[in-house]
Amino acid sequence: MNSMNRTARHIANPTWNVSDVNGQYSYRNPHADLYLYLSQWSDMESYLNVGYSNPGQYHLHVSSHLRLINRLADGLLELHAHSPHAADHRLLDIAAGRGGAALHAHQRYSLEVVGVDFTPYNAYRATSNATKKNVWPQVQFGLGNAHRLPLADNSFALAWSIESPAHFADKPTFLQEAGRVLKPGGVFTFADLLVIDHVATASAKNRKIYQEFLCVWDVPYLETLASYQRAIAEAGFDLRRSEIVTQYNLNILNRDCVIFLWLSSFAWLYRLYKRYLKWRTGANLDNVYQHVLASHHALRLGMIDYGLFWAVRM
Ligand SMILES: C[S@@+](CC[C@H](N)C(=O)[O-])C[C@H]1O[C@@H](n2cnc3c(N)ncnc32)[C@H](O)[C@@H]1O
Repeated sequence: MNSMNRTARHIANPTWNVSDVNGQYSYRNPHADLYLYLSQWSDMESYLNVGYSNPGQYHLHVSSHLRLINRLADGLLELHAHSPHAADHRLLDIAAGRGGAALHAHQRYSLEVVGVDFTPYNAYRATSNATKKNVWPQVQFGLGNAHRLPLADNSFALAWSIESPAHFADKPTFLQEAGRVLKPGGVFTFADLLVIDHVATASAKNRKIYQEFLCVWDVPYLETLASYQRAIAEAGFDLRRSEIVTQYNLNILNRDCVIFLWLSSFAWLYRLYKRYLKWRTGANLDNVYQHVLASHHALRLGMIDYGLFWAVRM
């Protein structure tokens, strides 16, 4: 492809390796130290999304994860109420992580949930969370790759994927798979990071900042809003609604990055906190610092958006 035609969608993470994604979610990769750090304020053994908060709401808390899940679920169930499968309450959670969203879907919305994830640690943790809450087998988890779901065609009325597609090497294939396992008329929602094309490609410096962002999050590449809209239609979905909610999560994350970086500029405080963090969580503050810095560089330029999508399988 002519370099003039290359969009941010074609900028790949040069170091991406699928085993690093598993490593990040199994505490075998320095990028996992961010989750250990965040575990001081939220339940990272259940929820692995950036959440959603209105102005004035406290963000570093389980409640922000639940607000994001509720927003997706409310839109999903509104469409479901008018679907030919309104009496079918089975939800597929694609890349379910540690199960918090699936468990919440059962507790708040009375859905039966099957969750799949390709990281053994997460599938194990999700299963143990469901067992502790006594909801197995109404909520059950197993291993599965979003690119080849181990599920029959037309088997679910509802599906979602929350903040996981960013990690998928081929998002159009994931959308085709979601379409394959959904019944015609079934409803699908997902949340994902999006790259803002003109910002990420504006200069060599921006491209480098963007690639560093991809690296620290173990993301192979990101879709743009337009490329997702095309891929959703090509996968046989009717996109009913999409929403950019960056101001309710990524902008708040960036504000927290600024505070973290400012506090880190006090060398004595950094040294003290580094020892405390290691003792309290096992995390290395230097790894957290690199993660936060790379995230802040991309977020402050407005290079990344956060999108929610609701679609009906045709
Ligand atoms: C950011 S976490 C989100 C987890 C969960 N949806 C949540 O909101 O808490 C991303 C998850 O995607 C999973 N994942 C990444 N690539 C995958 C793939 N190709 N197939 C299945 N799961 C995948 C990871 O193992 C991880 O659990």
